[in-house]
Amino acid sequence: MPTDLETRIAAAPHRFRVLTGDRPTGALHLGHYFGTLANRVRLQDLGVETYLVIADYQVITDRDLAGDLPGNVRELLLDQLAAGIDPARTTIFTHSAVPALNQLLLPLLSLISVAELQRNPTVKAETAATGTRAMSGLMLTYPVHQAADILFCSATVVPVGHDQLAHLEVTRTLARRFEERYGPVFTLPEPLVGPAPTLLGTDGRKMSKSRGNAIELRATPDETAALLRRARTDGDRRITYDPAARPEVANLLELAGLCLGRSPAELADGLGDRGAVALKALVTDAVNDHFAPLRRRRAELAADAATGGLDELLARGNDHATLIAEEKLDQVRRAMDMTYGRAGVLTSS
Ligand code: TRP
Repeated sequence: MPTDLETRIAAAPHRFRVLTGDRPTGALHLGHYFGTLANRVRLQDLGVETYLVIADYQVITDRDLAGDLPGNVRELLLDQLAAGIDPARTTIFTHSAVPALNQLLLPLLSLISVAELQRNPTVKAETAATGTRAMSGLMLTYPVHQAADILFCSATVVPVGHDQLAHLEVTRTLARRFEERYGPVFTLPEPLVGPAPTLLGTDGRKMSKSRGNAIELRATPDETAALLRRARTDGDRRITYDPAARPEVANLLELAGLCLGRSPAELADGLGDRGAVALKALVTDAVNDHFAPLRRRRAELAADAATGGLDELLARGNDHATLIAEEKLDQVRRAMDMTYGRAGVLTSS
């Protein structure tokens, strides 16, 4: 069922602007693809102006070392481009290259209390996940930084998972509070809750690189087969689609279904009592066939990348984002009466 927002986008895609993004922590996996990447490409292709942040400052919210950032940014770019993100229509940029975006953090931070930030469900969850490590100031304030990502480019649509709705509420609250205090500068974004079910990893838990249960987009057919052979199932030879009682089997059926454009229940019927081996063979072929064109494009892009194409592309995105961010920051300065230092402002009164 299309949501109300989906219907409005389809009717006039050019009136909307999407912002979303990722932390550059490594190559993307099938969970990212079906959860968000495919949806981004779809919105872009509908004609919605799209902004993608490579959130490099967010990588250091919960860890001291960001790892191989240049390598991770490269893999992320390759995955997005191979999936169909078109840099002629989509602006891809990094936090660290757009100073005016980061400066928006300062006025926004004045509009929210520490207690509100401490109550934020995502901040709480991520802090819990970091164990005994002390919470950094950047972790506490990252929902505000994320608000700056969304507000600087006047995004009207932010594709999110259910777990991130609280973030968007922070952004909307900050935009409203800014308006009450200083006047209208920011646009209120709406969340677009993604259509796809959350894919589980090969061990039946949430697919995540750090758990070692993820199938990366860039995996070879053999690597894909090996990962799926190890996937958890159960002992029942009869394949049925029963997400509540048989989550691991259901997850494999869903993955095959997404790749083949067929329903998981129908695929289960087709397999009958041929067991987990046949199920895994079906899923492996489905994944490898579906991603063959993407993987081919990715290999070609990686060969081009060796000649500097990715840096140029990112530099263009950063330049465009900087232009937009400086315009917004200028509006903010005017609303806050901070335009002194320009001809006539101090001398005229
Ligand atoms: N938090 C997102 C992630 O974990 C990345 C991100 C940064 C983002 N800024 C954003 C997503 C703004 C949506 C909107 O990958």
